[in-house]
Amino acid sequence: MKVVRTISELRRVLTGWRQAGDRISLVPTMGNLHAGHLQLVTMAQQQAERVVVSIFVNPTQFGQGEDFESYPRTEAEDIEKLKESGVALAFIPSLAEMYPGAQQVSLHVTGLAERWCGASRPGHFDGVATIVAKLFNLIQPDSAVFGEKDYQQLAVIRQMVRDLNIPVSIVGAPIVREPDGLAMSSRNSYLTPEQRAIAPRLYQALCQMRDAIQRQEADTEAILQAQQTHLQQAGFKLDYLALCNAETLEPAHPDDQDLVILVAAWLGKPRLIDNLRFSRFSGNKTKTGCRC
Ligand code: PAF
Repeated sequence: MKVVRTISELRRVLTGWRQAGDRISLVPTMGNLHAGHLQLVTMAQQQAERVVVSIFVNPTQFGQGEDFESYPRTEAEDIEKLKESGVALAFIPSLAEMYPGAQQVSLHVTGLAERWCGASRPGHFDGVATIVAKLFNLIQPDSAVFGEKDYQQLAVIRQMVRDLNIPVSIVGAPIVREPDGLAMSSRNSYLTPEQRAIAPRLYQALCQMRDAIQRQEADTEAILQAQQTHLQQAGFKLDYLALCNAETLEPAHPDDQDLVILVAAWLGKPRLIDNLRFSRFSGNKTKTGCRC
């Protein structure tokens, strides 16, 4: 595996691969790789002959007081995992390589990015869209793979690619969960043992909400309220818990069939996010991989 830290070297290597007719798939990450990231790599390997993984903790998507400085950085371990996974190239640029001067041009995302994580993390999706667009321009991949755990981020990136006519095929990868249902995340490492024991209740709440909605046990607002109370009593500080149209991410209309429950909640230091997509009228649990 090549470990490349500069844009000039990146372009040199990629030009050779493209001339040889190889397709390239990109997995953008911020490092601290876990099984969820490695699943993205596996999916990328199904798309292309060469997989590029970028590791860059992008400051422009962190707000003031967020965890940019303390975000776990585990480069040596990450490189080993990528080597073992058969990745062709790890692009690990420095801050100065990606943002050499004050960035005067960047992307601004409206609509989709205004609710949920966008409302509580102002500017976050502008930062994500800008860095992902920069990576797309640098690497010019045929495809790029993103995790469905960051459901709103994936929707924003799909929209960006449509709106800016970027010739990249976007692939969403299913959430990888711990055996007890907790969605894998680099930020899970912030949890104390006590919080880690409580954390799976977030996914349990999503599954219970889904079941209650499909069985029409009560009106949606009452189902939401009950789970909000339940999570607060368990120790979560809720940012949002919302039933949405799975495509638009607007609050669900009673006629919407393709639904997603989005949740973000603090449990001590980390702000955990999760989601569950399902059909209002289907009782088929196997599709969502629910284990509760
Ligand atoms: O999902 C992430 O890890 C980041 O938001 C991404 C897509 C790598 C952009 O920095």
